[in-house]
Amino acid sequence: MRRLVLTAALAAFSFTAAHAADDPIKVRKSIMQSVGGAAGLAGGMMKGSVPYSPAAGKAAIATFNAAAMSFGSFFPEGSDSGDTTAAPAIWSDADGFKESLAKFASATTAAAAASGREGPADLDAFKEAVMPILSNCKSCHQTFRVK
Ligand code: HEC
Repeated sequence: MRRLVLTAALAAFSFTAAHAADDPIKVRKSIMQSVGGAAGLAGGMMKGSVPYSPAAGKAAIATFNAAAMSFGSFFPEGSDSGDTTAAPAIWSDADGFKESLAKFASATTAAAAASGREGPADLDAFKEAVMPILSNCKSCHQTFRVK
């Protein structure tokens, strides 16, 4: 049964990915919007404007992790112009971009591993897991995004 669900999920994913090839800019922006939403949730919990819960902490981390794993697939040649803030450096310094993506992915993977089944137990544990993720936003945007 689990296997069936997984297969269905994978099938749905490859459908989305194939479809996405039509408009990679739209997809990568939507992925980043989900990252922005997760950062808003994480920030709200850290500031205390949103009550902390392990499940919400886990959801934010899972969103970061899913984004980090998929984002890099949506920068084909020729998708550097149009309604996008992606910087030319993504293509001219492809290795640098890959490195930034890899750093982001390793932070999100570590946080996902640390958050366990139930999510980080308390706000301190959440902060410890999530801060290394949040330090990636600015450094990548500075080099690989234009305003
Ligand atoms: C590895 C590089 C990288 C990392 C890390 C990264 N971003 Fe981005 N982000 C981008 C790029 C590139 C774009 C521009 C995408 C485009 O317009 O095609 C972007 C765009 C965005 C956008 C605008 C989306 C839109 O609708 O145009 C938001 C919001 C955003 N990022 C938030 C974040 C936050 C919050 C983090 C940290 C948790 C983060 N990003 C981490 C590369 C990154």
